[in-house]
This record gives sequence, structure tokens and C-alpha cells, in this order.
Amino acid sequence: MAFISIGMNNSRKSIILGVTGSIAAYKAVDLLRLLTSAGHDVRVLQTEASLRFVGELTFQALSGHPVVIDQFDPRSESVFSHIDLASADIMLVAPATAGTIGKMAAGLADNLLLSSYLATKAKVMICPAMNQQMWNHPAVRENIDTLKRRGALIIEPGSGELACGDEGVGRMAEPREIFERVRQHLADVPTSKADVHGDINRSGSLAGVRVLVTAGGTREPIDSVRYITNRSSGRMGMELAEAALDRGARVTIVAANCSTTRIPGITQIDVETAEELETAVESEYESCDVLLMAAAVSDYKVSDIMTMGKIEREESVSNLKLVPTSDIVANLKNNGNGRVRIGFAAEHGEENRERARRKLLDKGLDMIVFNDISRADIGFESSDNEITIMAPGRDDIFVEKTTKRECAERIMDQVETLIA
Ligand code: C5P
Repeated sequence: MAFISIGMNNSRKSIILGVTGSIAAYKAVDLLRLLTSAGHDVRVLQTEASLRFVGELTFQALSGHPVVIDQFDPRSESVFSHIDLASADIMLVAPATAGTIGKMAAGLADNLLLSSYLATKAKVMICPAMNQQMWNHPAVRENIDTLKRRGALIIEPGSGELACGDEGVGRMAEPREIFERVRQHLADVPTSKADVHGDINRSGSLAGVRVLVTAGGTREPIDSVRYITNRSSGRMGMELAEAALDRGARVTIVAANCSTTRIPGITQIDVETAEELETAVESEYESCDVLLMAAAVSDYKVSDIMTMGKIEREESVSNLKLVPTSDIVANLKNNGNGRVRIGFAAEHGEENRERARRKLLDKGLDMIVFNDISRADIGFESSDNEITIMAPGRDDIFVEKTTKRECAERIMDQVETLIA
């Protein structure tokens, strides 16, 4: 029997499940059951380290295929000789340790799972599992960005109590959530294996919806080398864009000086100043259904920019003149035409929550997302956030501190109710 079952039954897909050495390996057993119960043909690749957590016989019994660990194992020849890695639909790595993520990003191939990753043309989905310090380490962040840039879909870990006793982000996503993401992806995969992020019959809860996201922080030049800006990295906006994409939306992002990597499948327009951002938003607005205005737009710009050259120390800058920029999202309100417009209010201190509510009304928005920027553990330069979602005539929705991705998912849930 050939491994790939396309042609016999289009809903039965071929999935490679890579299991690495984390306590979360036990969750991979549930995940395997969900995948096989849905009729998929799943082959499991385990690393040596994963055997310390779950034995190969468990995966073998549930997948109905031998499990290969050692790439020099003579059995690997018989088990994998007929596997066309290039034709598998999905390669899922769950759990993915920091070590495996690092090796994948570096292109190392010192076990069968890693060499399969390099050989496959399947959609790669990675479910990280690790301690929160490791997850937040710049090396891991960069490796994750590298893998995303190469088209891998990262199913972000959740927050809560970790196996090591710490609290924080790092717990592998739950098998049901991973299964759901696989299902959403497969619903998109045409059997021709065209680019799943292309503009082809996307499905999902936001299929057919055009989402425009702004992200990052604008830069207002003072002279040819200096500018006024803010601490926004663009991460929240990128997470929103990716969450919308994963739900089947057609997504455009207007990125103001974002330090994040581009997401395959999303149209990105790079801008620098508030004025450029305004021009880009105005030109995209007419053809969008939902606008998520997550960018931190400067409220002021310099009136007399020294475009050629640099203001010297001895020159006085005491009369640097600032003039207001236009309030982009507020100005769009009169030609809303049923579009959903969502603003973001980063306010200093909980006591300023009501300022956010005033902005919701003053700017004529359908929804505003408040977060407290006085806290160092959320918001700027953090992978976490804690938000309150406010909408006229609705109860506030409080999302306790969690990953920005999780916040983005909760915001997209509300977007869905607004456009329903
Ligand atoms: O800066 P402020 O707190 O008023 O920002 C609230 C919302 O308004 C944000 O969604 C931001 O993107 C948007 N905004 C804008 N144009 C500005 C300033 C802010 O659209 N000039």
C-alpha cells in the first residue's frame, strides 16, 4: 500500500508526526489519536530523547505503523523507503523542544526527524514546549522567527503551570487546538498542493473576509538621521494578522518600522511615517471588511524637518516645532460603510482604562483593545499582553496575561461576532 492516499480518498491525508524529548510527549499520544480517528495516515518519528517520556510501542500501536528513531536503523529502510516525504501533506513536530527548534533553524540533520524536515515539502507545523525562560530567550525567539520566515506555522504554546513548577508561557498547545489547526490547514490544501496561502478558496471562520491590520510604530523625522518614535515592535499587529490568516481571511498589513519577520501569505506594505501610514490605510480601506488599527501612530510630527543634513550640537533645538498628525482611524469613521473598525489604546496605568473607553466613543470605533503600558511584564518588548476588549453596548472582556498570540485569538473571536 502506498503511503500517500490521495486519489483513493481526498479527506485522508498523510501526516508525519515528529515527537521530541519533552514531558509534553504524552500529549502527542492524544494528538495521534485525534488524527487517526479523523482518518489520516500518520507516521511517527521519535527522537531518542522522546523515548524517555513515551515508548515507541505506544505510537506504533496507535498509528498502525512501526516507529523509526535511528536513521541508521536497518528497519528505517523498509518503513520509510516508500515514503515520499515530498508528498506528505503535513509535518507536525509536537512537542518541539528548544533543541530541535534550534537545529531546524540551523539546518542540522543529526537524526531522522531533522533530516526529514529538510527533505520534506509538506507544510511544517511546530508546537513548541519548553520552560518560559527558554521560550523568551532571544536565541529561541530568533530561531522561531527564522522558521516562520521559511513558512513554518508555529502553534504557540499556552501559559499556565509548567512541568518544572514555574508559571508562564511554554506549555505545549492542547492536542484539540493543534488538531483544529491541522484541520483548518487541510481544509485549505488543494490536492494539487498549490501554495496554501495563495488566493485560492480559503476556508475557515473568516474565509472571504478581507482584513487590514496596521502594526508597529511610526517614525517622524527631525533631520536626515534623527526621528521621534515609540517602543512598539509590531508584534501584536503581526500576531493579529497571522491569527486572521489562519482563520482563512485575506490579510494585508501596513507595517510601520516593524522588527518582526514577514509572514508568508500576507501582503505587507512597509511605511515609516504617520503620513505614509495614513496614505497606505486610505488606499486599502475601501477594499477591506475589518480594520485592526494596532499601530502606535505618532500624534505629532516635526513641522520643519531638516531633510538634507543633520542639526549640529551648537544649533539650538529648543524651538523644535511639533504639529499634530491627523487621527487616521477617527477620520475614517464617516465612510465606514459597514466596515468594522477596531482601535487599540495603550494607556499608562489601570486608572486610565476609562480614557480608552472615551477613545472608543470619540473615534467612533466598533471596538477598542485596552492595555496597561505601565507594566514591564506585558505590552512593549514582551511576548505577553493583558487586555480588555471594549465595545459599545457590550460587557468588557478581560483577557488575563497570556501570549500576544492568545490575545490575538481572543480579539479575532470578537471580530467574528461583530461581523456575524
Ligand atoms: O494614540 P491613541 O491612543 O489615540 O491611539 C488610539 C487608536 O487610534 C489606535 O488604534 C491608533 O492606531 C489610532 N491612531 C490613529 N491616528 C493617530 C493616532 C492614533 O489612527 N494619529
